[in-house]
Amino acid sequence: MAAISAPRGTRDILPAESWKWSYIINTASQTMRDFGFSEIHLPIFEHTELFSRGVGETTDIVEKEMYTFEDRGGRSITLRPEATAGVMRAAIENNLCVQGASAKLWNWGPMFRHERPQKGRYRQFYQIDAECLGIAGAMADVEVIALSIEIFRRLGLKNLEVVINSVGCEKCRPVYRQKLIEYFDSHKDELCETCLTRLERNPLRILDCKNPSCGHVADGAPDIYDSLCDECKEHFAEVRAGLERLGFTYTLNKRLVRGLDYYTKTAYEILSGALGAQNAVAGGGRYDNLSSAVGGAKIPGVGFACGLDRVMLVMEEQGCDFGEMPKTEVYVAALDDDARGAAQILTYELRKNKIASACDTAGKSFKAQMKIAGACKFACIIGADEIANNAVSIKDMRSGSQVNISMSDAVKYILGRD
Ligand code: HAM
Repeated sequence: MAAISAPRGTRDILPAESWKWSYIINTASQTMRDFGFSEIHLPIFEHTELFSRGVGETTDIVEKEMYTFEDRGGRSITLRPEATAGVMRAAIENNLCVQGASAKLWNWGPMFRHERPQKGRYRQFYQIDAECLGIAGAMADVEVIALSIEIFRRLGLKNLEVVINSVGCEKCRPVYRQKLIEYFDSHKDELCETCLTRLERNPLRILDCKNPSCGHVADGAPDIYDSLCDECKEHFAEVRAGLERLGFTYTLNKRLVRGLDYYTKTAYEILSGALGAQNAVAGGGRYDNLSSAVGGAKIPGVGFACGLDRVMLVMEEQGCDFGEMPKTEVYVAALDDDARGAAQILTYELRKNKIASACDTAGKSFKAQMKIAGACKFACIIGADEIANNAVSIKDMRSGSQVNISMSDAVKYILGRD
């Protein structure tokens, strides 16, 4: 029978890599705490409607990328393609933002999109996501952008570019949308097939089409800043001033519209030159109408998600520090078969005292055990003499020095040395 492989676009995070993932998540977690964000855990599948209404019917995600299936009860279920809609659903369902209360929430985990796999793009990928709910003012946008920048600063990512834009609101965007339709309609013959279908449904998406001909047309498109209402203009100016106050540099890109329909006002991305075509390590923005789109009372929100897989790629490429790989500190070696039981008892004692330790459970020879012990700080050796005297020999594997001490002092001895 043929061996079964992982589905296309998924991959296994093996031990050689998983400790680095933990480092990234721990760094993000500490940064979230420092910024006052609390962890929230959400279901990985939700009702399909949450995403079709939340992310938007005309987005690529909803139109062609979702893993949607009917469950045994006949309900349409979707593996989450992103986290924001789920966080909003949870906030509404659990009354986290009633009577003007705000909530700062973060989570991390797998997301699912049926995209064409390539470098930095998977069908099951991982996001670290932060959402600030219940605050309409621009300072919240600044805080969220600062949080994402700070995570990358702590991780040591270099040469990142922060790109920001305003995509307007429900008042001014329809006007801009109409201007775009008129403009692109007069350049129909220069647009790609996909953009022709976007023309009526989602003309803003034509602005960030990667096709060179569409890009050329988009260069001459009406400027969104000329269409923003006073409120959106003021909000954008405040976000920019706030970022400048904190000393951040950023690029304005009036063609940054992002692939999710819920954005209002601020949209931003953080790009890395180390990634090739899939160059966004994080993306986010404000979404003041998402709550009403999914059936709740009005809750403004702003957040971001960063792609863990991509952060990992950039860190590897840039030789960033992942801290120390966790390793076994003490190896307890049994000189003969009679000592194996005692070795396991001492190993368990050490572990109870939070000392990372191991002993052989596979029947390896003493020589083979000592070879493994060579990579540890200490080897505890137990043979017939040690058992007879209720003692243990402890060898410092770095200096080669060895002591013989009473078994009951072993843990204290090791804890007292580095
Ligand atoms: P997004 O731009 O679709 O936004 O995804 C955010 C990040 O997830 C991207 O910048 C990228 O690093 C990573 N990512 C997306 N798709 C893939 C993929 N197929 N493979 C690997 N990495 C990927 C959102 O998802 C929004 N929910 C962000 C947000 C939060 N906006 C407001 N709050």
